[in-house]
Amino acid sequence: MTKASLVGIAVRKVTLLGHPVLRRRLRRLKPEEARSAETRRLAREMAATMEEYDGVGIAGNQCGEDLAIFVMGLPKGGQRHPAGIELTMVINPVVKAIGAETEEDWEGCLSVPDLRGRVKRPRTISLSGLDLDGKPFERTYEGFPARVVQHETDHLNGLVYLDRMDGLESLTHLSEIGRKG
Ligand code: NI
Repeated sequence: MTKASLVGIAVRKVTLLGHPVLRRRLRRLKPEEARSAETRRLAREMAATMEEYDGVGIAGNQCGEDLAIFVMGLPKGGQRHPAGIELTMVINPVVKAIGAETEEDWEGCLSVPDLRGRVKRPRTISLSGLDLDGKPFERTYEGFPARVVQHETDHLNGLVYLDRMDGLESLTHLSEIGRKG
């Protein structure tokens, strides 16, 4: 994904915590809606918005839409996850944990700017849904990409990562991450 590939695609304003759409369970799309030109354009705008805001994933309601769709992607070689994440657009996602192993790590959210918190989540998951051709999508993820999938799928169910924290003690301003003592 490069900026050049997204020239001419509108960037949305990301909705912030407190906007009611972030607490809504979003409408699932029928296969014919999933493969529509409108959905494809929305997915491209979501990808452009994610890139503009330097996110790793973005959900429909973060772009002001009441539709169960998320986009994720991260270029290779960055600090957050050197392996990168392939640009992926999923409609009506459903996540299932595989195995009992969990992992705790920092999360942030474009709708909750400048904060990070520790969230424990299943380490390996399966993701199913529809792709932009309206065809079944199924993949397994582990580690950081699995965390992104779970975070974005939560958004589509009206949840944010703060709801998944065991407590708010780890909630940290971005500028204070890594401070000792
Ligand atoms: Ni988020």
